[in-house]
Amino acid sequence: MSDFTMINCCLILGACLLSSQVVWSQRVRVEYEVTSSPNGSVNLRCEFTNSGSTKLTQVSWMFERVEGDRHNIAVFHPLYGASFPNKDFVGRVQFTQGSLENPSIRIDKLRMSDAGRYICEYATYPSGNEQGTTTLIMQAKPKNSATVIPVQAGSSEVVVARCEAAQGKPEATISWITATAGRYNHTSVPEMDGTVTVKSEYRMIPTPDENGKDITCLVNQKTQNEPKTFLLKLVVEYPPTVRIEGYDNNWYMGRTDAVLICEADANPEPTNVTWTAASGQLPPSVSVDQNRLLVRKVDETVNTTFVCEVKNSLGSAKKEFSAMVIDPSKREPIDVRNNCWNLGFGFYFCSPKRNTFVGEV
Ligand SMILES: *[C@@H]1O[C@H](CO)[C@@H](O)[C@H](O)[C@H]1NC(C)=O
Ligand SMILES: *[C@@H]1O[C@H](CO)[C@@H](O)[C@H](O)[C@H]1NC(C)=O
Ligand SMILES: *[C@@H]1O[C@H](CO)[C@@H](O)[C@H](O)[C@H]1NC(C)=O
Ligand SMILES: *[C@@H]1O[C@H](CO)[C@@H](O)[C@H](O)[C@H]1NC(C)=O
Repeated sequence: MSDFTMINCCLILGACLLSSQVVWSQRVRVEYEVTSSPNGSVNLRCEFTNSGSTKLTQVSWMFERVEGDRHNIAVFHPLYGASFPNKDFVGRVQFTQGSLENPSIRIDKLRMSDAGRYICEYATYPSGNEQGTTTLIMQAKPKNSATVIPVQAGSSEVVVARCEAAQGKPEATISWITATAGRYNHTSVPEMDGTVTVKSEYRMIPTPDENGKDITCLVNQKTQNEPKTFLLKLVVEYPPTVRIEGYDNNWYMGRTDAVLICEADANPEPTNVTWTAASGQLPPSVSVDQNRLLVRKVDETVNTTFVCEVKNSLGSAKKEFSAMVIDPSKREPIDVRNNCWNLGFGFYFCSPKRNTFVGEV
C-alpha cells in the first residue's frame, strides 16, 4: 500500500467516524468531555431534543472503562422509576432531574477508576436506540515533596537532593534551578489507579564550597495554578581547615594582651579546638579562651611555635604558627635620634619610650 492510499484510507475512515458520531448524537445531546478529581462530583448532562413523533421508552447510562466493556449504572423508566444496577456506583449516582427528557446524572465521591466513557442511551420507538457519549477525565493533584540529602565532600558524583510528585494525573514534570554544576534524572512510575509518581534526583560532585548553596525544585502539573517550588540549601560535610590569625608582627618584650585566633572552616561545626606549643606545654604567660590564645605578657617563652588543632565528626586539622618575639635591647639603634632599631626583614622598631611605631620603611 502506498503512502498516498494510506492517507486516503485514513481520511475516509476519519470522515466515517465523524459522520456516524454526528448521527448518533444528533438528538441525544451530551457534553463531549468533562473533567473532575478524586472525591469530587461531576454532572453528566443528557437531553433528548426534537423528539417529534418518536416515543421515548427508557433511558440508561452505561459506563465503559475500556472500549467495549459496558456496565449499566443507571436506568430511568417513566413507570418503574430509577434503578442503579451497578454496585460500584450505587449510592454515588443519582438522576438530577429524573425525567425521560432530561436524564442527567450526578456522580459523587469520584475515584480515579471512574475515568472513562459514559453513554446516555435512549430506547425509542420506532427508531431504536440513540446515544450520546461523554468522556470523564479524572485529574489528580500530585502530592509534592523535596528533601536535601546531606553528603560528604568527595570526588565522585552523589545524590544531593530529591524531589517527588506522587500520584498525579496527568504526569507531573520536575525541574531544578541551581547555580551549582550537576545534573538530574527522573523516573515515572504508573500507579494502580492510573496516576503517575515522578521522582527526580539531583547529582553532583560535592565540594566544601557547595555547602549552603541554594537549590530549588520545581514541580509543574496541569491541576496546579502555578509550579510548586521547594527552596532548599545543599548540605556538604567536610573535615576542618584551619587558619591562624591575629598576629600583628609586633610582639615586643613586655607587651601585654597579644592574641592569636584559630579560625576553622568545618561542617559540621568543630567539636573541639585545642591550642598547644610545638615543644609541649603551653608557656605559663598564655591562656586559652575557646579558639583564642591570649598572651598576657610577651616574654622569651612565647618566642615559640604554637599549634591549633580543630576536630569535627569527620576528622581533624592542625596549623602551626611561629611567633617572633622582638627584643629591642639586643639590637643597635639605627636611628639614635628616634631610638629605632633595624629588625631585619624590612622591619624597624622604635622604642615605646618615644612612640610605639613599628613599620616597614
Ligand atoms: C478523599 O477522601 C478520603 C476520605 O475522606 C481521604 O482519605 C482522601 O485523602 C481524599 N483524597 C483526596 C485526593 O482528596
Ligand atoms: C538516575 O539514574 C541512576 C543511574 O542510572 C539510577 O540509579 C537512579 O535510580 C536514577 N534516579 C531516578 C530518580 O530516576
Ligand atoms: C578537646 O580535646 C582535648 C584533648 O583531646 C580534651 O582534653 C578536651 O576535653 C576536649 N574538649 C571538648 C570540649 O571536647
Ligand atoms: C626568638 O627565636 C629566634 C630563633 O627561633 C631567635 O633568633 C630570636 O633571637 C629569639 N628572640 C628572642 C627575643 O629570644
